[in-house]
Amino acid sequence: MRHVFWTVLLSVIAFAVTPTEIRSQNLPYKDPSLPVEDRVEDLLGRMTLREKVMQTVQRTYGKNTNINNIEKEVKAVDPTVGSLIYRSTSPELYNEIQRRAMQETRLGIPILCGFDAIHGFRTVFPIPLAQSCSWNPELVRLSCRVAASEAASSGVKWTFSPMVDVARDSRWGRVSEGYGEDPYLNTIMGIAAIKGYQGSDLSDPSAVAACLKHYVGYSMSEGGRDYQYTNISAQTLWETFMPPFEAGVKAGAATVMCAFNDMNGVPASANPYTLTEVLKKQWAHDGFVVSDWNSVEQLIAQGVAADDREACLKAFTAGVDMDMVDDIYFDHLEKLIEEGEIPVGMLDEAVRRILRLKFRLGLFEAPYVDERPEQERFLQPESIDLARRLAAESMVLLKNENEVLPIASDVKRIAVIGPMAEERAAVNGSWEGYGKPEDVTPLLDCIREKFGDRLEIDFVRGCGFDGDDRSNFDAALQVAVKADLVILCLGEKREWSGENGSRSVLELPDIQEELALYLGEADVPLIFVLSSGRPLALANVEPVAAAIIQMWQPGSQGGFALADILAGDVNPSGKLSISFPWSTGQQPVYYNVRRSARPKMGHYKDIPRTPLYPFGHGLSYTSFTYGKATCSADLVRIGEKICIEVPVTNTGKRDGMETVLWFVSDPVASISRPEKELKYFEKKLVRQGDTEIFRFEIDPERDLSFVDDKGNRHLETGEFYVLVGSQRVEFQLAD
Ligand code: BGC
Repeated sequence: MRHVFWTVLLSVIAFAVTPTEIRSQNLPYKDPSLPVEDRVEDLLGRMTLREKVMQTVQRTYGKNTNINNIEKEVKAVDPTVGSLIYRSTSPELYNEIQRRAMQETRLGIPILCGFDAIHGFRTVFPIPLAQSCSWNPELVRLSCRVAASEAASSGVKWTFSPMVDVARDSRWGRVSEGYGEDPYLNTIMGIAAIKGYQGSDLSDPSAVAACLKHYVGYSMSEGGRDYQYTNISAQTLWETFMPPFEAGVKAGAATVMCAFNDMNGVPASANPYTLTEVLKKQWAHDGFVVSDWNSVEQLIAQGVAADDREACLKAFTAGVDMDMVDDIYFDHLEKLIEEGEIPVGMLDEAVRRILRLKFRLGLFEAPYVDERPEQERFLQPESIDLARRLAAESMVLLKNENEVLPIASDVKRIAVIGPMAEERAAVNGSWEGYGKPEDVTPLLDCIREKFGDRLEIDFVRGCGFDGDDRSNFDAALQVAVKADLVILCLGEKREWSGENGSRSVLELPDIQEELALYLGEADVPLIFVLSSGRPLALANVEPVAAAIIQMWQPGSQGGFALADILAGDVNPSGKLSISFPWSTGQQPVYYNVRRSARPKMGHYKDIPRTPLYPFGHGLSYTSFTYGKATCSADLVRIGEKICIEVPVTNTGKRDGMETVLWFVSDPVASISRPEKELKYFEKKLVRQGDTEIFRFEIDPERDLSFVDDKGNRHLETGEFYVLVGSQRVEFQLAD
């Protein structure tokens, strides 16, 4: 009760000072020469209880484009609010809102504007799942740099990205938003994204704060159904889901978003263990946690809170510092503090974290942005080039029988068929930010632009994405039989993946499969071009494909990147970051499984044991031969390092990029370990005829240890294998 008394008294004193008086004073929190922590404390000491609560409130401005979070267009802004999801690209509007916060509120605290720039802001890059197939973190970093500078130029200084939920069940539509099935790949790509968004200094005008999400375990939603319960053992939590978050925090991610899911009976938005014990104490994260959309209120639906007040109490005391959208903190936090249910010190700590970021972003010194026209800020030529390059590196050549690709010079006539050929929205994918369908050139147009002056090109749509209209099948067959090859453009509509985009069937819809099989009767090579936000189950149609390019949802430049690959101007170098199952029933299927009690038994009787296309699969137009892998020693002691090298020779007919994946296997340990785990990878250009040496320096503490179910690391001596290509290198770790 004592601090409540002081808080109320201070509020009364504070309110006695007018905004104009405060603004004109030279107060320490306004002094950029002082350390951020001093400024935070000074400002905190001047705030009323209500002002503090308002910092924990996030509202929206503008019209939501996420069909899962529909609300009325919001035009009114309370300038004392801590944060807005700002849905506009207008710097003028932003400046006007910020001017009210700076000039019409008592303390002049700037509003932090956030937005979902997930794979670009206006320039749309491939979806994150595709990006991870590039195995090129530098390109990922650069794409996030572009997204950051386009966002920041509109006043958005915070993006709700990257998503580092390791995802192994492709029925879950949000596999599209993360970096695939492997914890290490999610870690590396997540760090690249954070560095891209935040740059080297958050106060740089083109930097935006990153937000690691969704903390934690969201991707394990039962059966791949979004928002559902997740049952995750403590061991799996620490081994699979925590690593990208821990690494992201260490890399300096400014904020974290808690997830929607209930994990083992405790919703992620009310979990004191993950949010406070681990994130804030153990990992010493000094940024703040924002709830997911309505996730505080959803504690009621999840059955752990009777009403809004209890939801507020649970979420806030668990460690959720800012409440996205549902206004539950706005309505209840003050009262809970006044009633002594929540100590005011806890509110101070949450507000401290939020203010710290606002100071670090330089918002107090530079709250406004330059009012430049869109054509100077968006879709700059270098950004478009980068989008094309990243799209090309993200595409995965799954199959290429008889080297049917690239399109040979003796091909005279091609047929482009399929519902994806004229599509725009699906090419951008979900969470396209301010990307517009008209920014996308459809695949058909890109193919015509690339080949139009040397090839006859026919187009027939053949069928829709779904439905049962087969009336165009014959027309498709007629152009197919006249062609030297067919480019069959199939896949998923934009809204079939992404949030709330779960699907029970990963096969292509019947109508698309039927069209493929119908054309498969013609004596002409079929090149499948597939666009989707998730792996597809292709076993039914794969036999009729001469080649398959998985282009994902490649972003606005995807069609051009595809044409570059078809023509051979770009040699494909993407490899899968997530397994392609034989059939839906094989889900979940991922490479780093634990060993079976009877390894040769227990598999499905009707399909092979392995996925149709495994993690790491991806072809090139050239061939790479791995020489003998050698180890610098066959015994390493704790505290020392060893190095393994493998020479890779380009034995084909063109230059190409190869990614070498290094896995570690620990055959015997005190707890069972996965069959193998990715520990390092490197992508390099290997010119035709050249040999490049790829190296993996093993640091036993980092690469050979494992976490237990409490997150403690263990390093055990004994035998280890490093797996590279088809080789196994054995060595011993000793004390
Ligand atoms: C999603 C988040 C997103 C938020 C704000 C939620 O529905 O789960 O990933 O950042 O909306 O748009």
